[in-house]
Amino acid sequence: MYDITVIPGDGIGLEVMDATLHVLEALNIELNYIKAYAGNECFKRTGTTIPNDTIKLTRESDATLFGAVTTVPGQNSAIITLRKAMDLYVNIRPVKSREGVRSLFKDIDFVILRENTEGLYSGVEEYTEAGATALRVVTKKSSQRICKFAFEYAKKTKRHKVTAIHKANILKKTDGLFKDIFYDMAQQYPDIKAEDKYVDAAALFLITNPKEFDCIVTTNLFGDILSDEGAGLVGGLGLAPSANIGNDHGLFEPVHGSAPALTGMGIANPSAMILSAVMMLNYLKEFQEANKLEKSLEAVLREGKVVTPDLGGKSKTIEMALEVKRKLSKINLKKIIKNDD
Ligand code: NAI
Ligand code: MG
Repeated sequence: MYDITVIPGDGIGLEVMDATLHVLEALNIELNYIKAYAGNECFKRTGTTIPNDTIKLTRESDATLFGAVTTVPGQNSAIITLRKAMDLYVNIRPVKSREGVRSLFKDIDFVILRENTEGLYSGVEEYTEAGATALRVVTKKSSQRICKFAFEYAKKTKRHKVTAIHKANILKKTDGLFKDIFYDMAQQYPDIKAEDKYVDAAALFLITNPKEFDCIVTTNLFGDILSDEGAGLVGGLGLAPSANIGNDHGLFEPVHGSAPALTGMGIANPSAMILSAVMMLNYLKEFQEANKLEKSLEAVLREGKVVTPDLGGKSKTIEMALEVKRKLSKINLKKIIKNDD
């Protein structure tokens, strides 16, 4: 039995979370949900986008599922505050083609590892007489741990190359430090190729030759931007999951936001949230359940019959999720029959 903090958030965050929790019911695993609040609706009710209670519940649980929040102008971003408060220092964003999904490229499979606690998202931003400034923070500690994570991740997942993406030609000190630490770390991993690219060139290569990439490690803002670009390569934001990982906790959320234009229509693609739940199950070492869930979603995508409009279908969020759940029950049934033989 696992305690899972569930933070649906705002807009389609609520819709894809609801759909995903329906699907998770069909797994052979006991999940005890603790609901917590964050985002715009929470701000209207409580005066804060991320109450201390939410941080406390997150800290006390085994893992967290996060939907998406609407950013409140002038207020702290709930998700960025949570990442920092929990020291979730890496954001894992896989970019993977799925059969049956219309996309610019086929057979893409790389992962973006984004530094998640500092960079230009340091939170130090102020008005000045001339305008405004934001502080770009790159510490040795954060650069070392994200680069180490990247090489360890590559080793564990049998990837052969790590590409550091930066802008050290202009941001000589901050990204110069990041790049130097990356190559220092690379020396400890002689079996994994290490290379680096400027972020502007990398943005181009991602759409001209995405198969070049295997494992990308980068700073906060670049990782944020490049992961939306990555999602665009393989069918859109509706399919892009992520895992925020620290030493003591994992928080799992779609790459997308609250999508106000789709809110209330019931047609948001639940895949990104479902795949984020797959990442959570892997984090909890429930590999079999994770695999079953991913396979069931893949079957629905491959058939393409019960999918949301962004995938060319006519189905609602909940219909697509229930189709995934139906597939999951079939997988379970097969397993039971096999065990009875
Ligand atoms: P967004 O990611 O919410 O949506 C951009 C567009 O992507 C949508 O209009 C829609 O066409 C498409 N899309 C996104 N998710 C989809 C899904 N599940 N199914 C089908 N299509 C989908 O980004 P946007 O509109 O720039 O931001 C909306 C709000 O969300 C803002 O307040 C923003 O600050 C916030 N946001 C929150 C994030 C989070 O909670 N982690 C991340 C990104 C944005
Ligand atoms: Mg983003």
